[in-house]
Amino acid sequence: MESDSMAIRKTIVGHVDAAVLAFTAGKDVQLDLALAEADCIGTAAHVTMLSRMPGVNILTERDRNAVVRELITIMRAARRGTFRIRPEDQDVHLAVERLLTQKLGHVGKRVHTARSRNDQVATDLRLYAKERLLTLQDRMADLAGALLRLARRHVNVPMVGRTHLQPAMPSSVGLWASAHAESLLDDAILLRAAYDVNNRCPLGSAASYGVSLPIDRALTARLLGFHGPHQNVLYAGNGRGKCESAILASLAQVMVTLSRFAEDLILFAMPEFGYFTMPAAFGTGSSIMPQKNNPDVLELIRARAKIVSAHSAAVTAIVQGLPSGYSRDLQETKEPFLEGLRVTAACVDVLVPFVEQLRVNRQKLLAGFTPAVFATDRALELVAGGMPFRDAYDQVKANLGELSMVNPKLAIRAKTHLGAPGGLDFRGFAARVHQEHRHVAAERRRFHGAVTRLLGVDYPALG
Ligand code: ARG
Repeated sequence: MESDSMAIRKTIVGHVDAAVLAFTAGKDVQLDLALAEADCIGTAAHVTMLSRMPGVNILTERDRNAVVRELITIMRAARRGTFRIRPEDQDVHLAVERLLTQKLGHVGKRVHTARSRNDQVATDLRLYAKERLLTLQDRMADLAGALLRLARRHVNVPMVGRTHLQPAMPSSVGLWASAHAESLLDDAILLRAAYDVNNRCPLGSAASYGVSLPIDRALTARLLGFHGPHQNVLYAGNGRGKCESAILASLAQVMVTLSRFAEDLILFAMPEFGYFTMPAAFGTGSSIMPQKNNPDVLELIRARAKIVSAHSAAVTAIVQGLPSGYSRDLQETKEPFLEGLRVTAACVDVLVPFVEQLRVNRQKLLAGFTPAVFATDRALELVAGGMPFRDAYDQVKANLGELSMVNPKLAIRAKTHLGAPGGLDFRGFAARVHQEHRHVAAERRRFHGAVTRLLGVDYPALG
């Protein structure tokens, strides 16, 4: 490469060609703004630990307090939108170090003792993900709750159950809506598993090989409200990307649930079905056809499910086969990760009021029933009278034209075993929703309490 002296930029870590800097920093200069708060919190824990290190005087308690004060100032600036990452900073980590050194001189120059940007960024991402996952889990429980309320209000409203999209058996709005709720509650299990994987602190693993100073990794993990530190420092580094991959896999499952719910509604809100009416405020209309109220929201959820799935695939692919220890490839996991979290949360958020305001059209739902829908019920009636099932099946099949219409309400009430339209365990569902909210509340208390103690100001208020 031509070394044009005009194009050389001085950075904290040496002189780099401006074009190379732009290429390697990539989008970090913007993306890392999202990590500013987490970076400051991680640094606060690190300097607190350094100030308490036995036998080695790197930072006094006074120094530590000065650093934490500056970090809070940076966090406030980040919230106001006035914190900037310069191209020469490369990323948020060096931008924060630059500001600390500008303000505090030699004290600022000491903060990077016994850590690397690799453990720093891993810690930042875990802290960031923690907050986002808790918010998402809470909203998923809200959405499951909304679906269950819809189900409960319409537990006896008949709806044709379908296989291959063809009319199959009598079913109910209650069964349909609570099916999507249960799916979401299962996704919450996956999300919590990913949360647990995310709940280990990589800080102090430095470049993945440890440092020759008596750092206390259990202390920093505790100060940050993590469940504990990673054991192995090499795994702490290798966990970057892997953890993101696990989280994205759980998000992709959430999106599978949302996209199937969206698809059902796109179909059943069509005028030809008319089972449901979308809330008016959710239709965006057409620029040419005045009568239109299109399900754009649902279509975007359907498409975004594929995008989150692609983000998940991208991150998994980047991590696959990487050698142990940091490689810059890992930087490229950041954008799909942040995007996956953002998109999934937005989709859950938009659906909560959608479900709350969804209108159910009983008459249209009833109109979907034909005698054929009761064919299986009729066969089972014959079975109850003693006929072998295969004979009953053959008899009904041979006389399909003679099937008579049944009151669909009675047909769904007759199915009373566990999980059937007349046997839905709403108390069990409610307990699961409650459990999700409780988990979020307890984890938030633990996390925010730890950060509040660490910073000495109320967090997340930063008041
Ligand atoms: N911006 C970098 C990333 O996201 C930070 C770590 C850089 N570390 C390094 N050894 N170059 O991966």
